Amino acid sequence: MTFILAAAGSAVGLGNIWRFSYMVGESGGAAFVLVYLACVALVGLPVLVSEWLIGRRGQKNPINTMAELARKGGHSQAWTLIGISGVVAAFLILSFYSVIGGWSLSYTLGSVTGAFSGKDADAIGGLFNGLLASPGKLLLWHTAFMLLVVFIVARGVTKGLEGAVRTMMPALFILMVVLVIYGMTTGHFGEAMSFMFNPDWSALSGGVVLAAMGQAFFTLSLGMGIMMAYGSYLGEDVDLISTARTVIILDTLVAILAGMAIFPIVFANGLSPGEGPGLIFVTLPLAFGNMTGGTILGLMFFVLLTFAALTSAISLLEPVVEFVEERTPLTRVPATLIAAVAVWALGIAALMSFNVWDAPVAFGLNVFDLLDTFTSKFLLPLTGLGAIVFAAWCLDRESVHRELSLGATGNALWHATSRYIAPIGVIFVFVGGLL
Ligand code: PHE
Repeated sequence: MTFILAAAGSAVGLGNIWRFSYMVGESGGAAFVLVYLACVALVGLPVLVSEWLIGRRGQKNPINTMAELARKGGHSQAWTLIGISGVVAAFLILSFYSVIGGWSLSYTLGSVTGAFSGKDADAIGGLFNGLLASPGKLLLWHTAFMLLVVFIVARGVTKGLEGAVRTMMPALFILMVVLVIYGMTTGHFGEAMSFMFNPDWSALSGGVVLAAMGQAFFTLSLGMGIMMAYGSYLGEDVDLISTARTVIILDTLVAILAGMAIFPIVFANGLSPGEGPGLIFVTLPLAFGNMTGGTILGLMFFVLLTFAALTSAISLLEPVVEFVEERTPLTRVPATLIAAVAVWALGIAALMSFNVWDAPVAFGLNVFDLLDTFTSKFLLPLTGLGAIVFAAWCLDRESVHRELSLGATGNALWHATSRYIAPIGVIFVFVGGLL
């Protein structure tokens, strides 16, 4: 149970609510949702189980785990790259994640002061654009969010968070259901459902499929060695497949509920689903501003969203801190500070992408989009691919079968999925997305 809470604490975050909904909106709706669900099941599950399998054997941080397992099995030390690219990905992701965490903090304050009550779509949009246009405000909130993360990580109290996850996660869940019910009263619920679940396959391109796969990795915290690190805490008796299934179902439900809550508001107010990263910030305050009890529900929502973002952010900073601790003589607190300052500094470049530095820096993308795209479309899928290939081809097959205790059919299925279906799928999507 503790393990499920820790894994879900990392998995459920801004990715489920903020990123999922804006990606769905930008990528044309249902076709993206269905491909995403397929990726979660066919790639996400086997990669998650593979990371845990590796982590449980290695009993160390991802880099050392990979080094040791590769050495023991007589494989190339190049496998260590999986651990290294995981640390790099965590570092890059946290830099822009913290900017969005800052938005959530800022909206928490906005809910307290009643900034959204009774406002129409234009006014709410204006508030959001005002935030984006101000590098000073964004910096303030980004800094505040990073400080919270640093405080928790430096004190090493991450374990103490499980109790909080245990109550906050169900609360977030219930609130999402309340928002979905509100969505049903807008008169545009049917339209939203059809947008999310009735696919227009012509919206699909290689790029969209790659984006959907990237989202699957992002939302499940895969391809960063994070789940591998967690795997080292797993007892021998834990059933990996059913645990993975639980975490994935929880994570996916939160995302789907978020979509079902947000799109009715989009259509009811004549907003564009392709609004971009601001989508939840221009839709949900509208709902809170106009429903009974909205002020308190809005406050609760943004507190819970910030909390979910924090538990994910902690899991992103942790591997970077461990890396610094291991490679330098620094102890925990200075290592945390150094790692956090570096992340924070990169975050400043990311937040300037919304105002003073929105010019493309490479591949036609600004810093924020570049960080997001490079991690979710490249680093995560490739690192995840490495993990599954290693687990399927380099770990002793017999012992893996024993460990997963699946029976003959299950073993054959696992074997086929982990050796062929998932890796070939990832390569296919990856290459298709680039062409
Ligand atoms: N999975 C988290 C989310 O969906 C983000 C995250 C990614 C956390 C990678 C840790 C590692 O918000």
